[in-house]
Amino acid sequence: MPGSEQNEHHLEVLIDEERLQARLQELGAQIREEYGNVPITAIGVLKGSFLFMADLVRAIGGPVRCEFLGVSSYQGGTRSTGVVRITHDLRQPVEGQHCLLVEDIVDTGLTMDYLLRMLQVRNPASLKVATLLDKPSNREVEVQTDYVGFTIPDEFVVGFGLDLNELYRNLPHISVYTP
Ligand code: IMP
Repeated sequence: MPGSEQNEHHLEVLIDEERLQARLQELGAQIREEYGNVPITAIGVLKGSFLFMADLVRAIGGPVRCEFLGVSSYQGGTRSTGVVRITHDLRQPVEGQHCLLVEDIVDTGLTMDYLLRMLQVRNPASLKVATLLDKPSNREVEVQTDYVGFTIPDEFVVGFGLDLNELYRNLPHISVYTP
C-alpha cells in the first residue's frame, strides 16, 4: 500500500487553506502598498518557499522580479543543524535593487541570519524579509522579519512547501506533524 513504508504519525491542520490564502492576499497588498510602484526583487528560498513565493508575488502584483536561492539547512529530520549550504545561487546581481527575501519559516533564525549577511554584501538598495511562518520561541539569533504570515508555536509543521524528509510539501494547508 502506498505510504506503508512511513512510520505511524499524526497530521493535524493548524492553518487551513482558506485562512492561508486570505492572509497571503493581505500580505501582498500590504507589501505593494508600502513599496508603491517600485520594482521588487523577490528572492525565494528553495525549496520550502516555492508555493508561498508563487502566491505572494501574484498577490503583490505590479513590477516584480523573481530570483531563487537554493539552501539546505537540514540533513533530514526535524532539528536545525545551523549549517547552511547554498545549493543554488542568484542568477543576476541584485545591486541597487529592492530585495525581498521570501522564506517559508524562521525557526532558530540561523538560516535567515546567514542569508541576510550574504545578500547585504551584494549592495541591494534595500533588503526586507517576508516569511510565511515565524516560530519565535525557538530563536537562537535575533533576525529581522518585516512581513510575517503567521506566528506559530514551537511545533514541527509541514505543508504548503514545508517538508519532512521531502514529503508533504504539496499539502494546501499547514499541519502539525506528530511522530
Ligand atoms: P532555522 O535556520 O532554524 O530558522 O530554520 C529555517 C529552515 O528550517 C526553514 O527554511 C525550513 O526549511 C526548516 N524548518 C524549520 N522549522 C520547520 C518546521 O516546523 N517544518 C519544516 N521545516 C522547518
